[in-house]
Amino acid sequence: MDRVTARTLQEKKSRGEKIVMVTATDFSWARIVEEAGVDVILVGDSLAQVALGYGTTLPVTMEEMLVFTRAAAAGARRALLVSDMPFLSFQVSRAEARRNAGRFLKEGGAAAVKLEGGLEAAETVAGIVSMGIPVMGHVGLTPQSVHAFGGYRVQGKEPGRAREIVDGARALEEAGVFALVLEGIPSALAGEITASLKIPTIGIGAGSECDGQVLVLHDLLGIFREFTPSFVKRYAELGAEAERAVQEFCKEVRGGKFPDEKNIVN
Ligand code: KIV
Repeated sequence: MDRVTARTLQEKKSRGEKIVMVTATDFSWARIVEEAGVDVILVGDSLAQVALGYGTTLPVTMEEMLVFTRAAAAGARRALLVSDMPFLSFQVSRAEARRNAGRFLKEGGAAAVKLEGGLEAAETVAGIVSMGIPVMGHVGLTPQSVHAFGGYRVQGKEPGRAREIVDGARALEEAGVFALVLEGIPSALAGEITASLKIPTIGIGAGSECDGQVLVLHDLLGIFREFTPSFVKRYAELGAEAERAVQEFCKEVRGGKFPDEKNIVN
C-alpha cells in the first residue's frame, strides 16, 4: 500500500489518469473515503459550513481546522491528506503563513496544505514550499473572497478576469505548488489552464477537462441540505436516510420497542 504523494499525482497526469479528491472531516469519514479509493483527502475549510454551521468559510479558525485535521489524519493511511489554510492564517504576513502551514504538518498530521489565491499568493506559497511543505493552490471562485466577488459567482467569464486567473495559475506553478484547484470557472478556461500547466489541476464546477475532480463529501452524500450548488452531483441521500433511521429510533424508544432482549446487557 504505497502512500499517495505529490509525485503520484504528477504521474497520474502524465498517464492521463484522473485524480479523485474528496473532503473529509473526521476519522470515520477519512476511513470510508480512503477505503473507497480516493487519491486525496482534503480537510477543506468548507467544513465551516457543512460541519460547524457557519454561513461562510470565513469564521473558521486555525485551532478548529487543526482539530478536524488531526481526526482525518488518523484515518488517512494511504491517501494524501491536505489541509486547507483558513482565512487570515496566511494573508497577513509571510512569517505567519509559514508558521501556520507548519502547524498543519506538526500538530495536525497533514502531508500538505492548500491555500486560496493567484498572483498575490505566489510569494507566500514559495516561502512555504521552501520549508519542505507541499502546497496545493486554489484559483477562480475562491470562497474566502465571497464578499469581494459579491456572492458565489462564476469567475473568468470576462477576458480580463480570465487572464488574471491564467496568470495566477502560472505564477503558482512557478512558486512550486504541486497541484491546483480550479473552482467555478468556465470549462474552456479550465481546459486551457490544464493544458498549459505541467502540474495537475483538480476541478470543482470547472468542467471535465481538469486532471481530476473534487467534491465536498457532505454534498456528494446528500448530508448537507441547506443548499446544493448546481455543479454538485449527489451520489446518495444519506441525510434523508439518517433522518429516517433516527425517526425510527425515536418511534421505537417511545413505543417501548427498543431496547429488546438482544440489546440488553445482563
Ligand atoms: O474547502 C473546500 O472543501 C474546498 C474544496 C471545495 C476545493 O476548498
